[in-house]
Amino acid sequence: MSSSLNASEIESATKAALQAISATPDLDSLKQVKIDFIGEKSALALANRALGTLSPEEKSTFGKIIGAARSEVNAAFEKRTLELEAERDARVLLEERVDVTMPARKVLKGGLHPLTILTNEISDLFIGLGYQVADGPELESEWLNFDALNIPADHPARTMQDTFFVEPLAARLVMRTHTSPVQIRTMLKNEPPIYVICPGRTYRADELDATHTPVFSQVEGLVIDRGITMGDLKGTLDYFARAMFGPDVKTRLRPSFFPFTEPSAEVDFFFNGRWVEWGGCGMVNPKVLRACGIDTDEFSGFAFGMGLERTLMVRHGITDMHDIVEGDIRFTQAFGTGF
Ligand code: PHE
Repeated sequence: MSSSLNASEIESATKAALQAISATPDLDSLKQVKIDFIGEKSALALANRALGTLSPEEKSTFGKIIGAARSEVNAAFEKRTLELEAERDARVLLEERVDVTMPARKVLKGGLHPLTILTNEISDLFIGLGYQVADGPELESEWLNFDALNIPADHPARTMQDTFFVEPLAARLVMRTHTSPVQIRTMLKNEPPIYVICPGRTYRADELDATHTPVFSQVEGLVIDRGITMGDLKGTLDYFARAMFGPDVKTRLRPSFFPFTEPSAEVDFFFNGRWVEWGGCGMVNPKVLRACGIDTDEFSGFAFGMGLERTLMVRHGITDMHDIVEGDIRFTQAFGTGF
């Protein structure tokens, strides 16, 4: 067996190991070097194992040679490991360096929809005038949406074309076609004086196109107090219009008809060289007041209802309703949200 060990082979195995260790470029390849030159199947380990088969003399001679060779290789391995670890640490420090003076990256956060911004703005405006903000359900009783507002059963607005009736039909529920039922809810719940606005979603069976949407928004206003006149209504609408469209905006009332107001009017405003229809208004019909238990000898009131999409479109030059409805943030970002 002694022929299986010879000094020059051990020397060249040692050289090969030292060379491989010093040539190793990184910690990963060092693992393979360890397996190849130090591990159980490496030439030096095999030689070491072969010592057991030798005569005592040879064992002593080769034992020293192999022992020296192995410790030289191990030492070289440890040294290379330390070098490569130091290199890696230096590199990581450099690569993962954080420049704390760099400006922070912009984070996109959620923002409010322009309709919500407008609603908040209008609410603030009227709160500033002493109004309260009321709300009511979007799924409304047919009675509050129509009957209580003096809209008779054969009124065209009730037909299937305009109104979303909700099954079961016997429950007589509709998706509210306007915010006016909140007038009734408010008058049934509160004693005058009443100063409320009610912004909210409303529904009519329209196709979505550039100027229509089946789900739209209105803001209702209702004032009931002593000595309220059409002059108060006009003054309030002027104030509202100026806040929406600028100090120079003109408004006009055109005679109209709503079953729940008498007299009734359409309110228009003059903006960018043209008259734009804004909404309906009028003095609350005494019939409606009495049905809500309000003494019409003492109290009178006005109401108005405006479309919020229309307000937004005219004010911001939006020409397509789809932009308001579809929720593309490239549209809403122009309103300063979502940054
Ligand atoms: N509710 C009416 C509509 O939707 C608008 C309106 C509100 C008219 C209040 C008069 C008073 O057409």
